[in-house]
Order: sequence, then C-alpha cells, then structure tokens
Amino acid sequence: MSDVEIRDLHKCFGKLEVLRGIDFTVESGQVVCVIGPSGSGKSTLLRCVNLLERPTSGKVLVDGVELTDPDVDIDAARRRVGMVFQQFNLFPHLTALRNVTIAQERVLRRGRAEAESVARTELARVGLADKADAYPAQLSGGQQQRVAIARALAMNPALMLFDEPTSALDPELVGDVLTVMRQLAEEGMTMLVVTHEMAFAREVADRVVFMDGGTIVEEGPPGQVIGAPRHERTRTFLRRVLNPTHVDTDGAR
Ligand SMILES: Nc1ncnc2c1ncn2[C@@H]1O[C@H](COP(=O)(O)OP(=O)(O)OP(=O)(O)O)[C@@H](O)[C@H]1O
Ligand SMILES: [Mg+2]
Repeated sequence: MSDVEIRDLHKCFGKLEVLRGIDFTVESGQVVCVIGPSGSGKSTLLRCVNLLERPTSGKVLVDGVELTDPDVDIDAARRRVGMVFQQFNLFPHLTALRNVTIAQERVLRRGRAEAESVARTELARVGLADKADAYPAQLSGGQQQRVAIARALAMNPALMLFDEPTSALDPELVGDVLTVMRQLAEEGMTMLVVTHEMAFAREVADRVVFMDGGTIVEEGPPGQVIGAPRHERTRTFLRRVLNPTHVDTDGAR
C-alpha cells in the first residue's frame, strides 16, 4: 500500500507549458479520478508520475521516495508504478498468459514456473482464467484490456495508473473493465485514474481532480466536484461529458 505526493509539478514541451504547477496527494489505498477536457494535461500528468516523461520541475514522491530525484534508480522507480493505457498495447503474437509473464521474467527475473503461476492468479483475478492460451486477436477489447490490467498487477505495483482505460471500448464492454477496477479499489489498491466515466468516478473515487489548461481548477469528494461544482469551467465540462449529444448552440448564431 502506497501513497503518492505530487508537488508543484511543471512540464514544458518547448515553449508549451502543459503542466503549470500541479499539487495533490493520493493517500494509501485511495482512488483519485482525474477529469478534464482534451489537452488539459491529464495524460502528461500520469506520464510524469511513472517517469515516461521527465517533469521540467517539481516532485513526485511514492511512499516518501522521490521518483524525480536525479539519483534515483529510474528502472526500480518505474517498476513500482503499474500503468494501463487506452490502447491495450498487448503483444499480438503472444498468448494472454505470455503477455502477462514476459515482463515478470525479463524485468523481475522470475523463473518461468513462478511467472506463470502469478499470471494465472492475475488472469483469474480479472475474470479471464479460461483465456490464458488465447491470442489478443481472439479476445474482445474488454478482455484485452483486462489482460493488460493483469499484466500490470503481475509486477506487484505500489500504485496503479489508468489513462482512459475504457475509452477505446464498445459501450457494452466497458462494464467488465470497470468492475475489475472497482474490485481493485475495494481490495485497497492505490489508484490514479483518468476517466470520462462520471458514474464510476462518483461511485469509486475518494476524490476527484478537475484539470483545465495544465492546472487543477478544483478538487474534492466526487459529490462536490461532480455533484455541485464550484467553478464555471467545471460545470461547462460536466455538461458536455454528461450530455454528449446535446448541441450547444450558444454563440453559434
Ligand atoms: N510529447 C509531446 N510533445 C509536445 N507536446 C505534447 C506532447 N505530449 C503532449 N503534448 C501536448 O500537451 C498538451 C496536453 O496533452 P495531454 O495528452 O496530456 O492531454 P490530455 O488531457 O490527456 O488530453 P486527452 O483528453 O485528449 O487525452 C496538448 O496540447 C498536447 O498537444
Ligand atoms: Mg490523454
């Protein structure tokens, strides 16, 4: 069980400042959902937390250990953080089982038998015990995403990051993935989740962070941020997300 602390995080791409001073914490065993419009910096934030991107300044601490310390062992630091992407990024030529064992063997140096035993446990945890020998092309999008979750869990992460894990899925497949995430949350996994699934955020998140333009506009319990947002930008965003078929004609004429 781990906690995450993000302190005054900035990230620039050339002259573009994508993160403009982000501060928040995720307490051990808590779920924080990050919401916000496209381009607001949500993915960049997650990528800075697991060091896929180097922050321009600021700190990321996991269990008090500063991952952004230039002297930290970056591979060891990364290993502590599991990440699940919108696109599942499975190896198409490997079975589900092999997709879950390969990093265990190569990165954690587990033997084949141990890696397979862990993989079978994690595949069962995401409801795919019977799909170990299937190739990604033989699995639905929701099943592929659950293999990707099992793959991350097999590495014993201290925390899990999810970047819009259900956005690429057909609507009828979203539920199975959210069920697995809800179960992980109940088991006490520390989770930072970028999502547009407001019902999930309301039900599962301990706190919701609304980002816009590289800053946190507001954060708090879901009932407050989603249920009774204080800022107009949050309200505008939520109207769009909660009512995507609504055509906003204000100012269009
Ligand atoms: N490697 C990069 N180089 C240059 N600019 C980048 C890079 N990665 C992201 N950006 C820019 O940073 C901004 C934030 O991008 P980011 O992907 O973090 O947004 P997001 O909130 O995840 O959006 P979405 O909801 O569409 O996924 C965008 O303007 C994007 O073009
Ligand atoms: Mg993104």
